[in-house]
Amino acid sequence: MEDIKYALIIGASRGIGLGLANTLAERGWQVVATTRNVIPACHSGIDWLTLDINDAEQRNALQEPLSTSQFDVIFVNAGVYGPEHQDLLQASDEELLSLFTSNAFSPVRCAAELLPLLTPKTGILAFMSSQLASLNENLHATYPLYAASKAALNMLSRELSQSTAKHQQTLLCVHPGWVQTDMGGADATLTVAQSANGIADQLDKWRGKGGHHYVDYAGNVLSW
Ligand SMILES: NC(=O)c1ccc[n+]([C@@H]2O[C@H](COP(=O)([O-])OP(=O)(O)OC[C@H]3O[C@@H](n4cnc5c(N)ncnc54)[C@H](OP(=O)(O)O)[C@@H]3O)[C@@H](O)[C@H]2O)c1
Repeated sequence: MEDIKYALIIGASRGIGLGLANTLAERGWQVVATTRNVIPACHSGIDWLTLDINDAEQRNALQEPLSTSQFDVIFVNAGVYGPEHQDLLQASDEELLSLFTSNAFSPVRCAAELLPLLTPKTGILAFMSSQLASLNENLHATYPLYAASKAALNMLSRELSQSTAKHQQTLLCVHPGWVQTDMGGADATLTVAQSANGIADQLDKWRGKGGHHYVDYAGNVLSW
């Protein structure tokens, strides 16, 4: 019989994060997930904790209930789109700071604080990035503010690669595809279940591989 695997999903109240928590639980993983408000309808096996990733006190308070836990996967999924207009000249400094804090600074701080809980050798630390973050893939800077915040996430996550390499763990920046969520909209090409199943497959595939990789839900390696 295979060993039980343990996942911590940060930002799982809805959308892809919730889908991934449900998918892993359906596949037999033990899942701890975080929400900053209400607990959504979900698989009965998921344990919930409260966290706003931008709140340093809440991040600190998360340590206590998790103090004896160890995870095969820590996945920081939380993210925001930023100002609807996506125009640098229109955006206020507060809007830009809020976007970069939510999508880059807080996810990486949160992950750095949780890293001692990641299993050595086979553990995967993953961030929900976007293909739009790639200078090579996003040639025309589509949704530039959102894309720049995810590019910042990719770069800041690289700094953690020294710590993950030291323990032979794997670091992933994941593009979930274009997904039908509040953020992705109804015209998106993938359902939450399709994206979440693809991402769950990647978590199996990259286990024990080491390094820092930028991959999509379907297993394609993206250009930084
Ligand atoms: N949908 C797409 O097509 C697509 C494509 C590429 C990348 N992504 C990325 O995939 C991730 C999930 O996107 P989604 O489409 O599922 O978006 P979504 O439906 O808007 O859900 C966003 C999730 O992030 C949480 N969140 C946002 N700010 C948070 C904070 N400060 N602290 C804790 N949780 C926070 C939200 O919690 P609340 O419910 O409390 O707001 C919600 O659970 C995001 O990082 C997004 O950038 C999405």
